[in-house]
Amino acid sequence: MGGSLRPAAVPVGWFALTTGDDLRAPVPAALAGRELVVWRDSRGIAHAHDAYCPHLGAHIGHGGSVDGDHLVCPFHGFRFGADGACVGSGYGTAGPPGAAIGRVPVCEVGGIVFGWHGGEPTFALPALDATGWTSFGVHAWELPGHPQEVTENSVDVGHFAWVHGYRDLAVEAAWAADGATVRLGYGFTRPWVAGWGSRQHIAITVVGLGYSQVDVTIDHVPLRLRLLVLPTPLSDDRLLLRVALAVRGVGPVDALLKPLLLRIYAREVEDDFAIWKHKRYVERPMLAKGDGAIGPYRRWVRQFYPAE
Ligand code: FES
Ligand SMILES: [Fe+2]
Repeated sequence: MGGSLRPAAVPVGWFALTTGDDLRAPVPAALAGRELVVWRDSRGIAHAHDAYCPHLGAHIGHGGSVDGDHLVCPFHGFRFGADGACVGSGYGTAGPPGAAIGRVPVCEVGGIVFGWHGGEPTFALPALDATGWTSFGVHAWELPGHPQEVTENSVDVGHFAWVHGYRDLAVEAAWAADGATVRLGYGFTRPWVAGWGSRQHIAITVVGLGYSQVDVTIDHVPLRLRLLVLPTPLSDDRLLLRVALAVRGVGPVDALLKPLLLRIYAREVEDDFAIWKHKRYVERPMLAKGDGAIGPYRRWVRQFYPAE
């Protein structure tokens, strides 16, 4: 059977770099083979830059600091503005002419900071209305994989029963693509404990290959759940996969339920790992009736590989 290990390249798009909570000081991040430093200026605006200082190579994400609107290297105190230009040495003298750190475009959604891979952004992530919702709890794994294959999970309706044990699947919103965004929805009965199940409805919004939003309602349960599935390519075939969950519905109890529900949904994502760990990427899959929208998905993803 044909197929390489993964899809060829890293797609362009928005990929999660860090959660805003971690941004009290500059933090390290990685995106598509690039080591980055993510930081917040005095106005609260997040920035991402190449991590290695052009002076003598310190990683600014490890021990760097912020002074007003400048990022400061921990090694000799060289300072950089949001545009990446070095604005001064740590000795009160001018920075070396032309010294700068590369900049990565950044946006923030739900307190999660995203960086753009591949030039300048060609689409935006949706704003999330946080009214009534808890903040996002986040669970992360580092594993072999590719964002295109993680995102394909949302359209691969065949595996829902086989891997996740969903029963009586109904497509409630058929595949609908608009530029970088796809919407679709399903209803199914999900086993919780000892064969007892409840009917769930999920509305999925996929924006590029690094952001899938899953809005969950459960019949007869007053809670609503909002899940984000955020695969960040560290290199061609390694991922930092984050799942973020926010809860809304029953007031103060929401915050108590959040860690438990996050654990349940994280376990569900882990159901896929045994397959992902050993699978190959099949460029021309042999599809059957019952597979869902994998064909349209494979055509839709081509827009994220503009160089090919
Ligand atoms: S290495 Fe960054 S200031 Fe010297
Ligand atoms: Fe899955």
